[in-house]
Amino acid sequence: MKRIAIFASGEGSNAEAIVKYFSRHSDIKVEMVLSNRVSAGVHDRMDALSIPSTAFTKEQWNDGAQIIDLLQKKSIDLIVLAGFLAIIPPQITTVYSGKIINIHPSLLPRHGGMGMWGMNVHRAVLEAGDDKSGITIHFVVAEVDGGKVIEQHECEVLPNDTPESLANRVHQLEYFHYPRVIEQLLID
Ligand code: GRF
Repeated sequence: MKRIAIFASGEGSNAEAIVKYFSRHSDIKVEMVLSNRVSAGVHDRMDALSIPSTAFTKEQWNDGAQIIDLLQKKSIDLIVLAGFLAIIPPQITTVYSGKIINIHPSLLPRHGGMGMWGMNVHRAVLEAGDDKSGITIHFVVAEVDGGKVIEQHECEVLPNDTPESLANRVHQLEYFHYPRVIEQLLID
């Protein structure tokens, strides 16, 4: 069995899509969700799906040791960031080098880097007048949004789009592609 840990800070709709995709998988399971926010919506979603979901303090994240200990005890093979807004400390990126992936809600390198998360990204796409947006699934390295791209998928930006309507369209791409890419990485 290959084991996934999802790191999430927000609503957790991607975490939910991933958990559901692997719920009856013979070789891959979502072992747990870790968060940097006690009040993140992801905890309620995981409770409903019976997936352990834990919040760590800023100090625990910065230190990394307890997080690594837990990941190793649970034999985690892949760390999947899904709307995770804290910086991954270098201790974790070193131990899990090549085993951490992220999804970004734009076509990187457009609209990436510091401050580019959630609705900020969709607002920036609309303000730039881009006629397409999409998702980027990539490996995580120390530089924010700087790791090797695994896959990108596009969607249209419509003339009357709001940040919310664009976010919805991008989310559909995320739910469809992210679980499949995780599966490919773990089965290869
Ligand atoms: C997603 O759009 C993801 O690409 C970005 O943050 C959002 C998280 O949404 N990194 P959710 O918490 O999975 O609902």
